[in-house]
Amino acid sequence: MSVLVTGGAGYIGSHVALALAERGEDVIVLDNLSTGRRELVPDSATLVVGELGDSDLLERILAEHRPEAVLHFAARTVVPESVAMPLAYWKTNTIDAHALLTKAVEHDVQHVLYSSTAAVYGNPSQVLVPEALGGPAINPYGMSKYAFERMLFDVADATSITCTALRYFNVAGADPALRTGQATPRATHLIKVAVQAALGERDGLDIFGTDWDTRDGTCIRDYIHVSDLAELHVLALERLRAGGSSEVFNCGYGRGYTVREVVDTVRDVCGDFDVRDAARRPGDPEALIADTTRLQAAFDWTPQHADLDHIVRTAFAWEEKLAQLY
Ligand code: UFG
Repeated sequence: MSVLVTGGAGYIGSHVALALAERGEDVIVLDNLSTGRRELVPDSATLVVGELGDSDLLERILAEHRPEAVLHFAARTVVPESVAMPLAYWKTNTIDAHALLTKAVEHDVQHVLYSSTAAVYGNPSQVLVPEALGGPAINPYGMSKYAFERMLFDVADATSITCTALRYFNVAGADPALRTGQATPRATHLIKVAVQAALGERDGLDIFGTDWDTRDGTCIRDYIHVSDLAELHVLALERLRAGGSSEVFNCGYGRGYTVREVVDTVRDVCGDFDVRDAARRPGDPEALIADTTRLQAAFDWTPQHADLDHIVRTAFAWEEKLAQLY
């Protein structure tokens, strides 16, 4: 039995592909390499380079490999870009994902794991966000990801597919063994930008908004290490295989850091760089922290990488490696 991982050459997808391959799973990766990299796909996996929305290609992959499960990561993921290019986000994240799900149903795939996002919550009315708190998302990224989540659960209701949507909070860090990491050149994520600034690859860092109603005026996020998140995917797949019902889970640690706290940690751990106060960034919610009650009840999951210094250290080590490679 194989598993199909879309976006398995990308940041989170490649960490999950690695975690699955380490457990002896037969992994097929579909990736168009727009942001992913071939060399991040585990050696034991089969890489198919192509588009998610290519139904003929999907037909060939599913007919040949007959995957038992699909883990769907391929997506556009940059919030400000989604504000500027909404049609591209709806196309990839919703319409192309519909093509994948259509083929999954036709080929009797049993389980679907979906990489959803805390962006579906928009600007939530409470800081600690439970899964039941429905949106609305406040940017095209969150909207387009949420639309597919709904589609997936409607399909699970109507078919024998069982599914899990994992709503990620802020994913950061890299595989501590540095086999993979965040390699997107134009990444906008805070910890990635900060470690690049510490390495002198960027001319410092702008803090977007210092007048939010938080303890130091900057936005609060729940940063989760990508390897802990990858482990959650393995557990989520095991849960579905054991007969677990279709469900949504927040993926975070249930604690928040301000932007300034993160920046100070990167300065302490990696070295100093210029930090400038700047205007708020369109589409940013003030504070997002995962309510992990449901996650903790469902999984025997003990995070191994939650320390912020460690998250930053792995991100920095990966960035140093990237600088040598490319
Ligand atoms: N930030 C800065 N300067 C930067 C980069 C980011 O101040 O150079 C701030 C942002 O304004 C925000 C915080 O750091 O307040 C985190 O920003 P990121 O871009 O790292 O992450 P986002 O919170 O915007 O989005 C991320 C993922 C989404 C996911 C969301 C859920 O990119 O996919 O987390 O919380 F939906």
